[in-house]
Amino acid sequence: MTSLLEAEDITKDFHIEGGLFRRRRGTVRALDRVTLALNAGDSVGLVGESGSGKTTLAKILTGLLSPDGGRVLWEGRPAADYSRAQWAGHVQMIFQDPSSSLNPKLTVRTLLTEALDVKHRRTEGRGGSTGTLRDEAGVLLSSVGLSPEFLRSYPHQLSGGQKQRVAIARALAAEPRVLVADEPVSALDLSIQAQILNLLLDLKDRYSLTLLVISHDLAVVGYLADRLIVMKEGRPVEEGPAGTVLDSPRHDYTRTLLAAVPGFIR
Ligand SMILES: Nc1ncnc2c1ncn2[C@@H]1O[C@H](COP(=O)(O)OP(=O)(O)OP(=O)(O)O)[C@@H](O)[C@H]1O
Ligand SMILES: [Mg+2]
Repeated sequence: MTSLLEAEDITKDFHIEGGLFRRRRGTVRALDRVTLALNAGDSVGLVGESGSGKTTLAKILTGLLSPDGGRVLWEGRPAADYSRAQWAGHVQMIFQDPSSSLNPKLTVRTLLTEALDVKHRRTEGRGGSTGTLRDEAGVLLSSVGLSPEFLRSYPHQLSGGQKQRVAIARALAAEPRVLVADEPVSALDLSIQAQILNLLLDLKDRYSLTLLVISHDLAVVGYLADRLIVMKEGRPVEEGPAGTVLDSPRHDYTRTLLAAVPGFIR
């Protein structure tokens, strides 16, 4: 069976520049020949210490960054075969901090209708009518558990949890098949985290989404993901069913990660 989304031998370097004439000061290899595959309906968790390359990989899969080596495939075809707009209907990403991912100058209505308009152009060749966009924005908002009155709000008028719900709604506006969630709850109060995690599970079922969830919190990925990939220094070091990796990790590094989580000794 062809996977939905694949990363094949992905390498990514960042060049650190500095000083006079922005001379190169060095190179960081953020990803070192990473291969992974997501099948339709998968719920995969990506864990690893800070700097291990998780966000870089997420951005490459979403098309926000290009790899230096290797390629990304959608249903077996290279990403280069698809337009940016088509890719937006494949993969969408939500970020750790909804305050910085939502434009503070736009109302929730505009944030959502802009994204919906892009979807209409992609699927129908022209933008949606004002009425259609308004109705769809309301439906999206209710699907993430917010009432239509929030359409008039600006991001700063919302709580952290409400902002993350809006960010999720905006990602869903593109009708993606894959949702990449990069630390989706780590900026939120503990009391709100479970609500957002349950929302993601609920949306996964409702829209038949494939999920890639990134978190340094093993409890979060253990809750959302069926399969875990452990990254270290730009490479996957362990992969398997979530229960197996958490209960009997094979790699020393995974054991160290598990031991670092209070109360996670199983
Ligand atoms: N834009 C950039 N410019 C330079 N270096 C970068 C850039 N983005 C990432 N890096 C470097 O690439 C490596 C991987 O970073 P990345 O953000 O992917 O890690 P991460 O696993 O998401 O970490 P965290 O858990 O802290 O979010 C790190 O060494 C980081 O400093
Ligand atoms: Mg990151």
